[in-house]
Amino acid sequence: MKKKLKFLGIETSCDETAASVVQENEEGTAKVLSSIVSSQIKEHEKFGGVVPEVAARSHVENIDFIINKALKESEVSISEIDGVAATAGPGLIVCLTVGLNIGKTIASFLKKPFVAVNHLEGHALSPGLENKIDFPYLLLLISGGHSQYLIVKNVDEYKQLGTTIDDAVGEAFDKTSKMLDLGYPGGPNVEKFAKKGDKKFYKLPQPIINKAGCNLSFAGLKTAVLRETKNINGNDKLRYNLAASFQETIIKILEKKTLVAMDQFKKITNLEKGVKFVIAGGVAANQSIRKNLIEVSKKMNFTPVFPDQKFCGDNAAMIAWAGIQRFNKKPVNDLNVQARSRWPLDETAPFMKGPGLKL
Ligand code: KG4
Ligand code: ZN
Repeated sequence: MKKKLKFLGIETSCDETAASVVQENEEGTAKVLSSIVSSQIKEHEKFGGVVPEVAARSHVENIDFIINKALKESEVSISEIDGVAATAGPGLIVCLTVGLNIGKTIASFLKKPFVAVNHLEGHALSPGLENKIDFPYLLLLISGGHSQYLIVKNVDEYKQLGTTIDDAVGEAFDKTSKMLDLGYPGGPNVEKFAKKGDKKFYKLPQPIINKAGCNLSFAGLKTAVLRETKNINGNDKLRYNLAASFQETIIKILEKKTLVAMDQFKKITNLEKGVKFVIAGGVAANQSIRKNLIEVSKKMNFTPVFPDQKFCGDNAAMIAWAGIQRFNKKPVNDLNVQARSRWPLDETAPFMKGPGLKL
């Protein structure tokens, strides 16, 4: 019988310092033995966003403690670990380097394999932390840095159907929150204050809604929010109305583009029924977005799957789990891998940002 691997996972790609111990389970699913996430909200709050150097310094200060805590909580001694996985990209280089270097060092010291993990693959495979999920499935990855529709064919096999051509959804939430002075981090605060507002009050643009397949765009929406904030003059009711209208516009955009992505998925895979639609990444924690995408899934015969809230945002359990699966597919020892700020899951997909983009 094959040994069930236990991996230490490390995540430092942005503003969360995280470590976790994950063990393979019977049915090819995971058992999370510990998952420690230390958020840097306090450090970045006063700047209203993530400051890379501040984030990197905080990772350096906390990482030893977080790794030790993860090991202690898992009740697994470091010598029982079969491998180490750390996020190598995409993300802030100064931040990635912290987790990557400590991961390589621990693996070398233990003479165990080191697996460099793509953060996006961590999110993509995160539903497997709780339930077995068969390939292929449709994935909507919505986080602070990415917004993509992908066919997850297998571990390390992705086909990108669409992506944002400018801002990510989470970024749009964060910027809207900043413009409306609703607090940091943006997403949860916009969601909270949107509950107090009238979502029909403002008519906001839905950029590229009827073109470019399931590619997404949020820059025009952000500019429209900025324009409206100029007329608000501290009126709370209007602030909440704008937060609600912004969130409703995001919901409508995701609804329309999800329908397009689902059609594309069916055409490409020839699968019609019982297909899973996974919504992962920090923004997947948003209850109104969840509710709407559940409806869309029903209409299109997809089964929606949302990772538990604790695995939607950045965490190291998803990194350990992606590391185990990559290693099972192809044993590697990635000690020479360097941090990458850009690392698409589908390397063949066209780069969709920058001037001169034709849609
Ligand atoms: O996946 P994640 O933790 O980090 C990245 O990989 O980017 O996602 C963070 C993003 C942030 O932009 C945050 O504002 C957003 O997810 N977010 C939300 C909610 N919770 C977090 N956006 C909308 N509604 C939420 N409840
Ligand atoms: Zn993330």
